[in-house]
Amino acid sequence: MYTEDGKRYLDLTSGIGVTNLGHCHPRLVKVVQTQAATLWHGQLGMGTHKALADLIDDLSTVMPKHLTNLFFCSTGAEAVEGALRLARNATGRQNVIAVQGAYHGRTNACMAITTSKYSYHIGCKPLMPGVTIVPCPFTSQLKVSPNSNMDEEVKRCLGIFDDLIFQTTNPKEVAMVIVEPVLGEGGYVPLPKAYLEGLTKRCKDHGILFVLDEVQTGYGRTGSMFMAEQIGIEPDMMLFAKGVANGLPLAGVAMRPDIAKASIPGTQGGTYSGNALSCASASEVIKVFRDERILENVALRSAQLMNGLQDIVRRNPELPLQEIRGRGLMIGIQFSDNAPSGISGETVAQCLERGLMILNTSKFEILRLIPPLNVTADQCAEALKLFEEGLKAAVAAKGYVHNGPKVASMKPCCATPCYKNLDGTPQACRFICQR
Ligand SMILES: Cc1ncc(COP(=O)(O)O)c(C=O)c1O
Repeated sequence: MYTEDGKRYLDLTSGIGVTNLGHCHPRLVKVVQTQAATLWHGQLGMGTHKALADLIDDLSTVMPKHLTNLFFCSTGAEAVEGALRLARNATGRQNVIAVQGAYHGRTNACMAITTSKYSYHIGCKPLMPGVTIVPCPFTSQLKVSPNSNMDEEVKRCLGIFDDLIFQTTNPKEVAMVIVEPVLGEGGYVPLPKAYLEGLTKRCKDHGILFVLDEVQTGYGRTGSMFMAEQIGIEPDMMLFAKGVANGLPLAGVAMRPDIAKASIPGTQGGTYSGNALSCASASEVIKVFRDERILENVALRSAQLMNGLQDIVRRNPELPLQEIRGRGLMIGIQFSDNAPSGISGETVAQCLERGLMILNTSKFEILRLIPPLNVTADQCAEALKLFEEGLKAAVAAKGYVHNGPKVASMKPCCATPCYKNLDGTPQACRFICQR
């Protein structure tokens, strides 16, 4: 990225996980220009334009096979609202269960199931009723040590789910459980496979629809097109948005055919659904993914960044860091509880001064790195160098003096990693800084 006056920035934000093939990828520029000279927009009430028809064919090559039906809209929040309408139509039930720390968007229903920060619904009460929020194995939220046995924490959270589903509602009244496989805005926390499997089992047992919000984890970001593949579960509905059209507004819900069939006619739609420019871009995104072997790059660059970040911790044992974590190129860095308040914002500012764009997130002090999925090895090496400088400058600017035990080693969160890379090799998702 370059400012008007020519200052160069290395962008590890990708417009919050959107410009996954970078800014102005020449192939995307070309198809969008061609589409703009053909048809900008055609409303779907009267037919299907070619850009959308082509996209449906292309999407069917990357979507989970059992999710044969698609609803298109423009934003992630609209996709969440659409899924809620569909779940209510299909089950005849009204209530919804979401996870503590989740972010699902800013519209009315989305606010009610978003608990990553209070600021998203401040001044907007009362929120949509019928919502139960359940805990997930995020150690900062559970107030347990980052070193805790995750199997135990998964059991604890699922046990509380089993209580809440009878204390705050009744399973017969719950239409859907919605979850992000990696908590996004809430702190970049990969949720253990056993927890997600536990939720799907409970949904099956109670006839509740299981909805995966893959708005941020989707489209290659975590190392597979969608995270459902890595977990090996079959959601009833899956939401997509953000990187699908690399920055042009396109989002949607992929669902089982019986759910689509149960949708009351006329309830789903929107003026910009399936916008032609967005569709053209989205089709080309899928082709570029194949031609440029993007998923392979995600695995390689993820390993480079995760190893590089752990190396920074080992070489700087006095830094107030607690954890490096993530899947693919969705990487979170959490500061220790004793780090100065505002340290993540300060690090973002110090990195920006040095020409590196990163983001912070969550109620806790957490940084996130979301590079484009075609980021190169040289760019990652440069980013790691600038990040280390920015981080040290931020710690100094905040006047932090470390006087406790220093980092001794990095420990993976679980003895047996619960996720696998594309090539089948196991990879831990959290690395804890041990003092
Ligand atoms: C997991 C998740 N769901 C939904 C949304 C809402 O998407 P949008 O901002 O396009 O409405 C976001 C946005 O960050 C998200 O990360």
